Amino acid sequence: MSFSSFRLLRAVSRRELYITRPNFTASTTTLLNFPFSFTNGTRAAALPFSKTARAFSTATEEKSGGGGSKLVWIAAGLVGAGAGYYIFSTQQIIQKVEPLAEATPPPKKEIDYQSVYNQIADILEDNDYDDGSYGPVLLRLAWHSSGTYDKETGTGGSNGATMRFAQEGGYGANAGLNVARDKLESIKEKNPEISYSDLWTLAGVVAIQELGGPTIPWRPGRVDADVSLTTPDGRLPDAEKGAKHIRDIFYRMGFDDREIVALIGAHALGRCHPTRSGFDGPWTSSPTVFTNDFFKELLNKKWVEKKWKGPKQYVDKQTGNLMMLPADLAFIQDKSFKSWVEKYAKDEQLYFKDFAEAFTKLLELGVPFTGNEKVYTFKPTTQ
Ligand code: HEM
Repeated sequence: MSFSSFRLLRAVSRRELYITRPNFTASTTTLLNFPFSFTNGTRAAALPFSKTARAFSTATEEKSGGGGSKLVWIAAGLVGAGAGYYIFSTQQIIQKVEPLAEATPPPKKEIDYQSVYNQIADILEDNDYDDGSYGPVLLRLAWHSSGTYDKETGTGGSNGATMRFAQEGGYGANAGLNVARDKLESIKEKNPEISYSDLWTLAGVVAIQELGGPTIPWRPGRVDADVSLTTPDGRLPDAEKGAKHIRDIFYRMGFDDREIVALIGAHALGRCHPTRSGFDGPWTSSPTVFTNDFFKELLNKKWVEKKWKGPKQYVDKQTGNLMMLPADLAFIQDKSFKSWVEKYAKDEQLYFKDFAEAFTKLLELGVPFTGNEKVYTFKPTTQ
């Protein structure tokens, strides 16, 4: 018997062996103890067989010392017979149990993704939270876990869910996303088979669809990584910067201008929180409905710098209730970006179509799909 086949036995519990060989004598049971206790690598010295082995070496020492007692020889003979029996019995046992050790593990539970989708949809609404929905913050989580991708090195992206670890979770850009991660814990507990990386991206899809946005085709297959795959800080866009910086960040992921503008339209949803990013206020007057309103507001309102002690941001001159980040305004300051802002403000259907394509791409950046994954299109619970 090779050591590796010996090790195979690790997988089989002692109880299973008793079931396999119900007629063992007491001595066989003692022998059975040996391989199984040994598997933990520390207990051999405490075992009956090892004790016998130590007795053998002591006997040898006595012999070489010139004692030559008959008793020693009898003891040695008995031990030899015992060892022979041990090998014989162990081989018998292994022949019996090997098929058990090689048995295929039970198939992984199939995940019903539409059910997970519905469970997430169920926890979105909460009148005591922000504007009444967790959708926007879940969408931001999906985006921030994916937006770390770097096409040159193939690092980052939604695969891995490394924001679970304090290092990435603590990056300034991710401030407040613990709210989204914590919110999804109850779903993870009910569906432990889904990876965090699949769960977070799926939650982004739920948020968009449940808040009235386009259908987002989604594939599972992401695997959670350990902390070593955490990407360095600084991969997400800085809200205080302009068009050049935005291009640097999004071109690094592999997006073009049209896709970048489509993606930023997600600012129709949600708001800025002084306790998270430092900025304050919503971009539109319907922050829980997915629309092309971000583009309309950007073009049609007059934006003035907000007078306050916080970071530089803009508010609409008329009411002061809506806001824009310096980075948002870059989308009408840059000619190429602005041409797409105008198209999307005029044509919501075009916007929905382009957003769905760009967002699906975002969620899949760097994910090593096998190609056999089913692509899901989920039914909104509102239909
Ligand atoms: C130039 C690019 C971007 C910049 C500078 C930017 C910046 C920000 C900032 C500063 C906030 C406020 C966070 C807070 O205080 O809670 C925010 C919120 C948000 N962002 Fe972006 N973002 C960008 C692109 C995107 C993209 C591509 C998406 C999605 C596709 C997105 C979705 C959201 C959503 C939904 C919120 C609201 C979150 C909430 O209500 O809790 N953002 N963004």
